[in-house]
Amino acid sequence: MKVIRTKSYEEMSRVAADVIGAQIIMKNDCLLGLATGTTPLGTYAELASRCAAGELDFSKVRTVNLDEYKGLAPDHVQSYRYFMDKHLFDLVNIDKANTRVPDGLAEDSAAMGLAYDEYIESVGGIDLQLLGIGHDGHIGFNEPDDCFTGPTHLVDLTEMTIDANSRLFESRDEVPRQAVTMGMKSIMQAKKILMVVNGEEKKEILKAALYGEITPQVPASLIQLHPDVTVVTDIEDI
Ligand code: GLP
Repeated sequence: MKVIRTKSYEEMSRVAADVIGAQIIMKNDCLLGLATGTTPLGTYAELASRCAAGELDFSKVRTVNLDEYKGLAPDHVQSYRYFMDKHLFDLVNIDKANTRVPDGLAEDSAAMGLAYDEYIESVGGIDLQLLGIGHDGHIGFNEPDDCFTGPTHLVDLTEMTIDANSRLFESRDEVPRQAVTMGMKSIMQAKKILMVVNGEEKKEILKAALYGEITPQVPASLIQLHPDVTVVTDIEDI
């Protein structure tokens, strides 16, 4: 595992964009696994400005997102599809037909998840998976649990995640209580993992994830077993 410490959020975002940009340059039709949250916003802004400057070409890039809130339509302002369109896809020359986000409206989430994982496998797996980390150690929406779950699946969000994500909704009541998330199988089978983490309040959970016991109670700890992980963080002493 490689840990790159940066002096600021801006530098963290530039370094993360370097890693993703290098992936696109090396394989122009790569499959990128993408994440939402406030942490990757700077990375997406960097990628968009590099694309506008003609330095990156997204025309053949394919993407799969980690997760989506259960019950939110793609055009709902809090949906992760809306987030991705607004912060990346509408700002680069990507073909939207090549971008996928789990379907939060699917009646049968298990069947939707199976098809999602089959798509990932059918195009050769994820070349580079971008991850953030939740305050309780979740990746995607894989919440602390008694076991790791492999396939894309439906999850109940923890109270901590509902609290953390309520800042983005009008009120806590509006935060969906469930989500569909890529499971550990597709994440761990990605050829490379890039994790971005910013802010001192994530220090303890990041330490637990990178150096603590590998346990489903800290889902991000599983990436210790992945052979090609790069963590970029502005947190000191990690
Ligand atoms: C959400 C997403 C995660 C993300 C996490 C942290 O729960 N499902 O993929 O990593 O939030 O978000 P933030 O970067 O805003 O702290």
